[in-house]
Amino acid sequence: MSQRLRPVAPIWVAGRPQHGEEEFFVTHPYDESPVGATSWATAGQVEAAVAAAAGAAAECAALPAHVRAEALEHVRRRLDEESETCAELITAESGKPIAWARVEVRRAVSTFRWAAEEARRFGGEVQRLDTDPTADGRMALVRRFPRGPVLGITPFNFPLNLVAHKVGPAIAAGCPIIVKPAPATPLSALHLGALFSETDLPAAMLSVLPVPNHRAELLVDDPRLAVVSFTGSSRVGRQLLRRVPEKHVTLELGGNGAALVTADYPKRDWAAERIAMFGNYQAGQSCIAVQRVFIEAPAYADVAGRIVEHVKALPTGDPNDPACKVGPLIDAEAAARVEAWIEEAVDEGAKVLCGGGPRVGALVEPTVLANVRPDAKVLRDEVFGPVLVLASVEDYAEGLAAVNDSRFGLQAGVFTESLPQAMLAHRTLDVGGVVIGDVPAFRADQMPYGGVKASGTGREGVRSAMEDYTVERVLVLPDTL
Ligand code: SIN
Repeated sequence: MSQRLRPVAPIWVAGRPQHGEEEFFVTHPYDESPVGATSWATAGQVEAAVAAAAGAAAECAALPAHVRAEALEHVRRRLDEESETCAELITAESGKPIAWARVEVRRAVSTFRWAAEEARRFGGEVQRLDTDPTADGRMALVRRFPRGPVLGITPFNFPLNLVAHKVGPAIAAGCPIIVKPAPATPLSALHLGALFSETDLPAAMLSVLPVPNHRAELLVDDPRLAVVSFTGSSRVGRQLLRRVPEKHVTLELGGNGAALVTADYPKRDWAAERIAMFGNYQAGQSCIAVQRVFIEAPAYADVAGRIVEHVKALPTGDPNDPACKVGPLIDAEAAARVEAWIEEAVDEGAKVLCGGGPRVGALVEPTVLANVRPDAKVLRDEVFGPVLVLASVEDYAEGLAAVNDSRFGLQAGVFTESLPQAMLAHRTLDVGGVVIGDVPAFRADQMPYGGVKASGTGREGVRSAMEDYTVERVLVLPDTL
């Protein structure tokens, strides 16, 4: 199917549409045809955006909650009105199957709705101090104030909703924000720039600047941007932490999500179907996609067989087809890497239960592997591709240990109906979130979301991100006023 070429998208410099220095095409990962174009921000435009954000910080911090909330509500409404166009844009620039792109738009609508609600709710608290004789007659008012302008660096795998997760909380908390969208998928973020330009917010509160990754330090190093909120690879996240240790850096990095299926779990087919789907949805390009699957020994053969059947049934191919569930990776280079990791595992003795065929362009066949060596990349690293690795574990304790045997710790899914097992998983698993009765890929946008270990630091999920973008300041008052 031939793709529609959209007009050149302006970049947003302190809320104003402009053109940068060099136009570039955005191409569809499925067939590499151009679907849109925009331009790179010049050094002058970056400086203008940063200076404007810094200059407007006090005004933004002082904006009444209803002004921030109404702007967020406006964007929510506009996204809802335009949901199909936005979904088509996501598919065009990222290759995400249209069915998942529609889900992403619905989630972004919800993210902005939550941000509008939190803008109104975010108030602070009164604390008693007379708990000890030294503070008799005093009380504390604890409120949060913006740290200053935020730099949001966003990835290609959710070109709209992961931008919403930086912009929504920033606006709700009263922080100006500059977004540097992923170079492969800038169009959805630029469209958000257009929607915010329709609001009454100070123009300087939002800039959306396509900047090539090798020039990102222009923004990262700038001392006027107090917070760096990054979603992307662990390698780049670590570099950022070392580069700007004096800044407040939040990192939402990779994962190699695990699901643990207990032998007693009664809905084995549901577990298998969810694992098959969420190991492969949007070609596995989600930080919380299922990658490692541990199954208690008595259920292994049955559950593994069901997973393979569900994987084989996944509609794969053209992401514009409403039936498609597994589309291309972001580009042929990413697909070649995933293909090489599968080959490496197989050369070292892994058994291919399904898939494993040669890639076609950016399309990788959904693949299920077993007997994988513990040091194989498909087990130890983040595949970010449609690959599941299955293994049998003797019992629940061994299963929990296997989930924890990872340098990552983002989310984990545990298929159990036992409350004690659920509570044990919550206490034991070294991750940012444990999902009972479902896959690690489950995410509701208001939940605190983020990782431990190499998966990052800080939390998103609207309210949690607002806490990251702000700092507590205590006012100690006499309780006699
Ligand atoms: C991610 O890939 O980090 C985001 C996953 C999601 O929002 O569902």
